[in-house]
Amino acid sequence: MSVEETLILVKPDGVARGLTGEIIRRIEAKGYRLADLRLVAPDRELLAAHYAEHEGKPFYEPLLEFMASGPAVAIRAQGERVIEGFRSLAGTTDPTTAAPGTIRGDLGRDWGLKVQQNLVHGSDSPESAARELALWFA
Ligand code: TYD
Ligand code: MG
Repeated sequence: MSVEETLILVKPDGVARGLTGEIIRRIEAKGYRLADLRLVAPDRELLAAHYAEHEGKPFYEPLLEFMASGPAVAIRAQGERVIEGFRSLAGTTDPTTAAPGTIRGDLGRDWGLKVQQNLVHGSDSPESAARELALWFA
């Protein structure tokens, strides 16, 4: 059996729009376990570490600005194959074209800004999950 953990974030747009409950409902309905949860107002240092792989890309500065615009909800979720399972629940990065049935596809859209405001983050590998959980649940 391979019980994994992942970091899920309800990003500031999800919290501001009152979608935290709906997003957590979908995680729980899928059968994943909430092992830890906190409301975080991330500072620049945390965000720069979290998104280090994107430094220098055109969307990097708008991304950090957006992520600093309000509190996020950080969730430690557990379950078999939860890393790929939550990525599937979340949908693809661009919320306009993310499949209906996914969090981003059902609840997100393009707001005409320089960054995709796509409601959630999910770690993309076991290595990312370990690294990101250590950052957000330090
Ligand atoms: P990425 O890790 O590629 O996407 P995902 O969140 O699906 O793993 O990018 C991180 C975030 O950066 C993404 O959620 C939204 C933002 N982003 C943009 O605003 N524009 C882009 O072209 C990309 C690739 C990402
Ligand atoms: Mg990513």
